[in-house]
Amino acid sequence: MEIREVAVVGLGTMGAGIAEVFARAGMGVVAIEADPRAMAHGLGVLDASLSRAVSRGRLTAPEQAEIRARVRPAAGFGDAAAVDLAIEVVPERMEIKRQIFAELDRVCSPDAILATNTSSLSVTAIAAATRHPDRVVGMHFFNPAPVMRLVEVVTTVLTASHPPAAVADLARRIGKEPVQVGDRAGFVANALLLPYLNHALRLLETGYASRADIELAATAGIGLPMGPLALADLIGLDTVLAIMEVLRDEFGGTRYTPAPLLRRLTAAGSTGRKAGRGIYDYPDPDDVLQTQDGNAAGSPSPDTVTLIGSGDDVEASLATALATAGINVTRNAAHPSDLVLIAASGVQRVLPAVMATGRPKDAVGLHLPNGLTEGSVAEVVATGFSSRHAAQTAAALTTRLGLRAVRSPDRTGFLVGTLLYPHLADAVRMVQDGYASPADVDTAMKLGCGYPSGPFEMLDHVGAGTVLAGLQIMFLSQGDPAFAPPLLLAEHATAALGFAGAPPAGAGLPADRGWAEPAR
Ligand code: CAA
Repeated sequence: MEIREVAVVGLGTMGAGIAEVFARAGMGVVAIEADPRAMAHGLGVLDASLSRAVSRGRLTAPEQAEIRARVRPAAGFGDAAAVDLAIEVVPERMEIKRQIFAELDRVCSPDAILATNTSSLSVTAIAAATRHPDRVVGMHFFNPAPVMRLVEVVTTVLTASHPPAAVADLARRIGKEPVQVGDRAGFVANALLLPYLNHALRLLETGYASRADIELAATAGIGLPMGPLALADLIGLDTVLAIMEVLRDEFGGTRYTPAPLLRRLTAAGSTGRKAGRGIYDYPDPDDVLQTQDGNAAGSPSPDTVTLIGSGDDVEASLATALATAGINVTRNAAHPSDLVLIAASGVQRVLPAVMATGRPKDAVGLHLPNGLTEGSVAEVVATGFSSRHAAQTAAALTTRLGLRAVRSPDRTGFLVGTLLYPHLADAVRMVQDGYASPADVDTAMKLGCGYPSGPFEMLDHVGAGTVLAGLQIMFLSQGDPAFAPPLLLAEHATAALGFAGAPPAGAGLPADRGWAEPAR
């Protein structure tokens, strides 16, 4: 049976986007919304998105009209009687979802598939509210739905074999890439993305780093398409909080504890882009993703720098770069200079080296997570003793070297490693748990969250040994169990083995774990 007619229940931002995706693929869409104002708003979102596509030359005006005509606002659930698939896209509240599924189960034909776009709630618990749980699946889209290519197809122990296959086929027909997953909190992408966003919020809230520095560390430092704070606003802080609560209930531990800031902003109604206010203010919707970086404008670059390092390649290339930029370099802290620069190794704090210079006020660490390539991030590490002038001079120096300064406190991992290493560890833990393969994780994060490289591709690039060493020292020095490295990472580091093409985790475990089978 090919799915041709669908019902979309709930026309918020995601529902409107999903309705658009179906209609653009030539399918008839019954749009169901309890609240007439929400229906009008959802149709407005759809119209704006289609008009934007016309203005960018990706659709003609007649095509826009045809697509729009395929979306029919419904008077009630009864209009879904003849659809092949109904997808629920309402807020993350189990009671509401279970009511909707009981209603769809009653009105839809027995052959229809019932899907939920839940981001984290148990699809099994939703299915159990119906008389035919074998036809209930998760069909999880990513925001913005018209752009992101991933669809997670979630099966439960109750799902029959046909619905997931039909939904995966449908996903391909509408230009998406399906990844089949079992029913576990957050599935693949949210279970990895959300703790990373929450961690960034905690770094902001505790004053570890500024908003602009956190965003720049993620975009220029890690290469992600958006900073975590802007992305949390895009998803909606209330949604981020709801997902974190589900993850905390399922997995526990500090990594999954929602940042208090998330609760406060949600309680204040400052839920992000959709509310016009969240981590950022959104006075101008065209300007929403803009963020200033932490580079010091107007500070003088130094003429003479004292460079202190451990005699490694990083120090040597930094010395060459400074000389090429016309800066005098001395290696003796007793000699006069405008700045003392500690070439930081990445995981060790710079304070011991700073104190050894005898000039703690003038001394600042510099860490280059991606080397000296033009436009790369340079972490400027000020200690509690560094003067403001020294930090600003170091930032001006990085600009002169063609780098982008990110200010980091003198904590192991600095800022880029603090954001990235626990995120990669979460991905390794997911594979270690036997929930997904490295390839599926990489696909999910690239197609669902726009990552240019998946977590395992990044891990292989950075090296399992480096990430392990970073996590170990973060765990030892900061004591947060969220940084404890997973065993599988240590194994790969010991074996000097990358994750691409590695045998699946759990190989060698008993294969007859019947309860883990996703479909029957
Ligand atoms: N609706 C429709 N189209 C949109 C859009 C929207 N809301 N936002 C952007 N686009 C389109 C634009 O029209 C543009 O297409 P054209 O070039 O053909 O005109 C294209 O997407 C790129 O947009 P921009 O040039 O404006 O901006 P960009 O290049 O910075 O990309 C982005 C924007 C696609 C959002 C990119 O920043 C990105 O991939 N960010 C990551 C988003 C992400 O992680 N999403 C997943 C969140 S988690 C989730 O959703 C699951 C959950 O359950 C919580």
